[in-house]
Amino acid sequence: MAIPFFSIDLNNREFFKIIKDFFLPVNFKKSQNEINLFLNERFKNKYINLLPSARLGFYLALKKNLKEGDEIIFSSMSFPLYLKIASELKLKIKLVDVDSKTMNIDHKLLEEKISKNTKCIVVTHLFGYPCKIDEIKKFTQDRNILLIEDCAQSFDTFYNNTETGMFGDVGIYSCSLIKIPTTLSGGILISSNKELNKYINKWTEDNIKFSFKKKFLLFMKNIVSVINSFPFLYSILTSKIFFFLDKFNPRIYRKIIYSGMGISTKKFDAMERSTLSKYQIEFGLSQLKKLDQMKIRRKENIEYLIKNIKNLENIELLDYDNDIDWNYQYFVIKIKKNFEKFNKNLFKQGIHAMEENVWNCLDYNYEIQNYSDNFQVTSKNNPKLLRIQNSSYLSKNHLDKIIMGINKAHEYTK
Ligand SMILES: Cc1ncc(COP(=O)(O)O)c(C=O)c1O
Repeated sequence: MAIPFFSIDLNNREFFKIIKDFFLPVNFKKSQNEINLFLNERFKNKYINLLPSARLGFYLALKKNLKEGDEIIFSSMSFPLYLKIASELKLKIKLVDVDSKTMNIDHKLLEEKISKNTKCIVVTHLFGYPCKIDEIKKFTQDRNILLIEDCAQSFDTFYNNTETGMFGDVGIYSCSLIKIPTTLSGGILISSNKELNKYINKWTEDNIKFSFKKKFLLFMKNIVSVINSFPFLYSILTSKIFFFLDKFNPRIYRKIIYSGMGISTKKFDAMERSTLSKYQIEFGLSQLKKLDQMKIRRKENIEYLIKNIKNLENIELLDYDNDIDWNYQYFVIKIKKNFEKFNKNLFKQGIHAMEENVWNCLDYNYEIQNYSDNFQVTSKNNPKLLRIQNSSYLSKNHLDKIIMGINKAHEYTK
């Protein structure tokens, strides 16, 4: 049996409900009210926008708050599309290297990069683990700098008992297909700024028109992806196709796998997606209701995986603090030697991991103000990162298969 890149925690009842809610979207308002209630309760004292994607929230937050020529700082391992959006808005981009333990922005290097033109700092809680947001906030608080938390991967992650996204002026979560929680494409923006909230509502009302075609295409894509997220069905339907694609046309294969990153298209299209449908909101709600349960399982999974691979000499784990309550969404390992051979062998055994070498923002030809600085932690570590899927849906058998695969592939690193 093959293990796909991701799994979604859903049962048969939820699956059929998705189909029913798509074709019979009655009581849409009721679902919308229910999800709003849930989010208002979770993110107290924040204004909330439920959006077709996180990227749209990011685009609108920049559009509303910044102007041409303003300086924006990202970590050198950020979501590359966000840099593209910033450069299309004619902002001046600076980067700060990451910390070698977590791959999050190195707050110790941040202060020296801040100038009088700095108007925004974007921090990414990469792989679901929080950055030192309290330290970073000290730099933005008194300087009138907008602090945006990219929480695309960090819903249900806490730092000092406060959820990521609650520290900054703006927090943006992704609910795309492979995220937790997922609305099978979507995003949530929270902020303390009523004007931003109103601006986003008005912008979406004016610009995102109902499109049955877009909704239907997304629905079909979702059904295919959901089906393929079950290891059993993935093994029968797709894994062999991917195997051949990877062998004979790795470029196309990579394009498919990373298509969600939006970096291959020429220009960011803010209107690319339609508003959320009833089935998406309902599915998001069912995910939100079982957040705790899913997190406990993911934590157990990671502990089990770590216990069984930690002695492999060429595999290193990120150095996370045990006291941090993070969401265990990503299980990322560092392959110290022969990354390609390791991953190829793992792939051959049917364990399809994601190469996490896409985060180095220096790789994309964006205009970076401090391009010639040294980003050695990023350049040294990014090519070695591999994401092994972790979902509450995985059984012990699946995990044992992953462990066996990693152990075998490790032989190729020597
Ligand atoms: C770190 C990070 N930021 C932003 C995004 C964008 O999220 P969305 O796909 O919902 O626009 C993603 C999605 O993969 C991400 O991983």
